[in-house]
Amino acid sequence: MAKRIREHWGSRIGVVLATAGNAVGLGNLLRFPSKVAMYGGGAFIIPYLISMLLLGLPLMWVEWMAGRYGGLRGHGSTVGIMGTILKGKLWARLLGVFGVLAPLLIVFYYIYIESWTLGYAVHSLMGNLPKPVQTTDTAEALKPFADFLKTYTKPSFEAYIFFWITFLLNWIVLHRGIRRGIELVAKICMPILFVMGIVLIIVIFTSKGTHPEWSAMKGLEYIWKPDFSAILRGDVWVEAAGQIFFTLSLGMGAIAVYASYVKEKEDIVVTGVATASTNEFVEVIIGSSIAIPAAFLFFGPQSISELASAGTFRLGFMSMPAVLNSLPFGFFWSFVWFMLLFVAAFTSSIALTQPMVAFLEDELNLSHKNAVATSMILILIGAHLSIFVNGYIDELDFWAGSFMLIFFGIVEIIFFVWIFGPNNFIEELNKGADVKVPRWVAYITGTITLVFLTGIMIMWFSQNFQKALMQEGTGIWLARITIFTLLGILFFITWITTGRNDA
Ligand code: ALA
Repeated sequence: MAKRIREHWGSRIGVVLATAGNAVGLGNLLRFPSKVAMYGGGAFIIPYLISMLLLGLPLMWVEWMAGRYGGLRGHGSTVGIMGTILKGKLWARLLGVFGVLAPLLIVFYYIYIESWTLGYAVHSLMGNLPKPVQTTDTAEALKPFADFLKTYTKPSFEAYIFFWITFLLNWIVLHRGIRRGIELVAKICMPILFVMGIVLIIVIFTSKGTHPEWSAMKGLEYIWKPDFSAILRGDVWVEAAGQIFFTLSLGMGAIAVYASYVKEKEDIVVTGVATASTNEFVEVIIGSSIAIPAAFLFFGPQSISELASAGTFRLGFMSMPAVLNSLPFGFFWSFVWFMLLFVAAFTSSIALTQPMVAFLEDELNLSHKNAVATSMILILIGAHLSIFVNGYIDELDFWAGSFMLIFFGIVEIIFFVWIFGPNNFIEELNKGADVKVPRWVAYITGTITLVFLTGIMIMWFSQNFQKALMQEGTGIWLARITIFTLLGILFFITWITTGRNDA
């Protein structure tokens, strides 16, 4: 069968912005500050930075190498890429299914939360958010915002409408393809994202707190002052490593699929570093300078653990609007905050859908239009379960947003470093690169990164597995049924298409 002509990114800057948009998302602006607060500020940062160096960068290169290698041979999903490396071996292709399944499952709930940010942005602008209560009691100050979030996500009629708007926007961009869709959106959204982030930092750092001793600076200190007390706590390491995976979009086939659209001569060594550093800039500079400093300024240091204890949404959807709406022109700053979240999430949700689109195009030979339509219909079903069934989101996030990423990270290293061969890995990675990555990086990735990751996986199991299996409830069972059904369907498609399109 004739090979489809694969689309390529239009420009160098387009590749960097699109992949940065892929990585920068709710993970940077909501998940990161919440995890930092939950795990004690500076205690989280040490395992986080070590994970960045030992896992983040090596896996980023692994996925760039794998993606370009597969793309040049007509495959963008990890199913096809892994098949290409082993000349179409079924087991290799079956392993690759996890790099299509995980992002799809994540987008089932991610897109719904993304739609809240759009809804909240519009509500902010229209002045519909609750009026802040002037009090230093955190619980009292947050109560109206907590009630608002509860009513909004029940779900309210508007939440449902904003979901549809978000869903259709994703569909349109994906339908327009790589250059006219994803790249164009990244070129527009990423500069806006930087400007909005920096404006909010200025607003927060120039505002007066509710108490003379409370300051935004103290919030930054809380995050960045190293605290070695937690260095031996397994749960902190698991969370820090998990955050690196989630924020850099690693272990989910999303970086590899974007890398599959680069041209042969692209310097992927530099582009990989650029993706990781842009993401880290947004996470550690912008992500850590907004939500936590704002909470320090208005609610004081003692409020942080309380704010974080109720999960990822408390800082973003309760404390931030409470703080911003009490400033002059508060409705506008609150709008900027939610638009910042929306723009970040939008460029990530399209990236999380693209592995499925590429899988359907490359393996089943569906037209681009039909591949996008099929993926979006699956997302529509999954997102409806996320919207209407209690407990569904948490269970999906637990398996797809945490376990599968670490598992697939291990698979990727074994596969792309050891099975492909450390020399092949480095040679492929260095093709077209001005500054070459030394060979020992392959060995470090294949040994230290692999051992580290395996340790994280073992700790993850010992902390979570039993507890997770004891959970009961309709949402939990529906999430498990979703995972197994999709796994079965993807295995089946992979099996029947094996040998069809392999190079
Ligand atoms: N990397 C994306 C995020 O951080 C998924 O939200």
